[in-house]
Amino acid sequence: MAEIINGKEVSAQVRQAVSNETAQLKEKGVTPGLAVIIVGDDPASQVYVKNKERACDEVGFYSEKYALPAETTQEELNALVRSLNEKKDINGILCQLPLPAHLDDKEVINLIDPIKDVDAFHPENVGAIMIGDYNFLPCTPAGVMELIHSTGVSVEGKKAVVIGRSNIVGKPMAMLLLHENATVEITHSKTQNLAEVTKTADILVAAIGRAKFVTADMVKDGAVVIDVGMNRDENGKLCGDVDFEAVKDKCSFITPVPGGVGPMTISMLMKNTLTAAKLQNGLI
Ligand code: GUN
Repeated sequence: MAEIINGKEVSAQVRQAVSNETAQLKEKGVTPGLAVIIVGDDPASQVYVKNKERACDEVGFYSEKYALPAETTQEELNALVRSLNEKKDINGILCQLPLPAHLDDKEVINLIDPIKDVDAFHPENVGAIMIGDYNFLPCTPAGVMELIHSTGVSVEGKKAVVIGRSNIVGKPMAMLLLHENATVEITHSKTQNLAEVTKTADILVAAIGRAKFVTADMVKDGAVVIDVGMNRDENGKLCGDVDFEAVKDKCSFITPVPGGVGPMTISMLMKNTLTAAKLQNGLI
């Protein structure tokens, strides 16, 4: 039986550190500020945005929420981003994705000032991550690395397999594992003999977005298994990309869903916003 990685606990430690540093910054007259934009009424996005606002309050940040109607035009959204780029009390800008189909997320991401891009989605920040010289790490992959570190298992020299190649998780995830000297393989829905590949993983990160996709026969004995998925099973219950009940008896460490990667993503967002505030005030 694997040890279950407690994402809530690791996340609380990160938030405590951010909160302590925020108190020190405030003594210097700097309060980190985050603006969150949400367009339309996607229920999952509304929950995420509410959790982000709550986290800001918890660590002592200033936050602004812009809830725009689904019919918002690209020009209106762009104008809001431009105005937030200029706002001195806003250090971080996050536009919750996905956007309604008529809006272009790339256009919005490209407009965010890279120094306020706390998601690390802007091409300038993505490029900086690629060469290992960055201000911000993307929140979910950075949170996954914290969870792996919390196990005490060293990444160096290990075989890591990432399932999924999204710009938000899979691709940057592979890069962060590579930065720590793992031997990394990225797999996806078109990979042939996927189970043969995943079975070679000492560290397996599942980010494919399919409920209970990773079964026990796809996992190497003693692997560290990280589940980035957030799906509903056949009974409407929240579940990950990993068949937790079956896989937990085969691996050494595993993250649960909920309570694994999810809480980490928001904590890393808080960390990035703090970094943004320090950068913009000449404190780094
Ligand atoms: N939608 C799902 N995950 C994310 C994220 O990390 N950032 C933003 N902006 N939108 C998301």
